[in-house]
Amino acid sequence: MSVQVDMRVSNLRKRFARRDVLRGVTLDFPAGKITVVLGASGCGKSVLLKHLVGLLRPDRGEVWFGSTRIDKLSERELGIVRRQIGFLFQQSALFDSLTVRENIAFPLREHEVHDEALLDAKVKHVLNLVGLDETIDQMPSELSGGQRKRVALARAVVLEPRVVLYDEPTTGLDPIRSEVINQLILKFSQTLGITSIVVTHDLVSAYRIADHMVLLHEGKVILEGTAEEFQSTTNPVAGQFLRGELGADELARIRGNRDDGAKRRP
Ligand SMILES: Nc1ncnc2c1ncn2[C@@H]1O[C@H](COP(=O)(O)OP(=O)(O)OP(=O)(O)O)[C@@H](O)[C@H]1O
Ligand SMILES: [Mg+2]
Repeated sequence: MSVQVDMRVSNLRKRFARRDVLRGVTLDFPAGKITVVLGASGCGKSVLLKHLVGLLRPDRGEVWFGSTRIDKLSERELGIVRRQIGFLFQQSALFDSLTVRENIAFPLREHEVHDEALLDAKVKHVLNLVGLDETIDQMPSELSGGQRKRVALARAVVLEPRVVLYDEPTTGLDPIRSEVINQLILKFSQTLGITSIVVTHDLVSAYRIADHMVLLHEGKVILEGTAEEFQSTTNPVAGQFLRGELGADELARIRGNRDDGAKRRP
């Protein structure tokens, strides 16, 4: 069982070109729990995750991994922290030219694990956790979309991280395959004590797995709480999102009666 660690961001701000993406985000991701971050496409969920692992640096604010402030660390110091954080990327991003075994072994080799017997044992262990023992010598192109996600999950936990960040783990999967992924996230959380941060716009999955839920809107946290609190929210913008409705501003943008810089048809 790994030691649990919490993560925190405080007043996080990030601007790209002329767009403020994160506009002062303060969040605590409790140790050993599953926090689900929801929000419309483009609201900054992936940008937030990338700050948590030091792939992006904030313009302002702080990022904490347990008692270590990580946003100002050098790349070398970050390397030590990154070893303890698993990352499931939005595009599960397996290496097409490597077998399942070598895909999963990749982070181990990167972190200087060279003992082939140990490497083999670790790969087989995590592949077994995701129920795909028999695929070890296959190429990613021979696997289904759901299987590829599971291999990517195995790779995300092979270094026995204390925190795992999941970016859209169920997007593009049918309900049954999504449920397999939900169950794996729950299993990693409960049996390995991993602190989990899951970014998604899949509400079904969110309600299945979340201990704690967060809703981002226009670069800010507009709602935070349990699934029950989300279901009974009186916040109109949150309510709209949770009912799957478009906001008035989005509707206006799509219908073309709001100037967002896009060219309108004459
Ligand atoms: N490296 C970057 N450079 C410039 N702009 C970026 C960069 N990364 C993200 N953005 C912009 O930041 C905004 C938020 O992007 P982000 O990928 O975090 O959205 P998201 O909430 O994850 O959306 P989705 O649900 O579609 O994955 C977008 O407008 C995107 O174009
Ligand atoms: Mg994203």
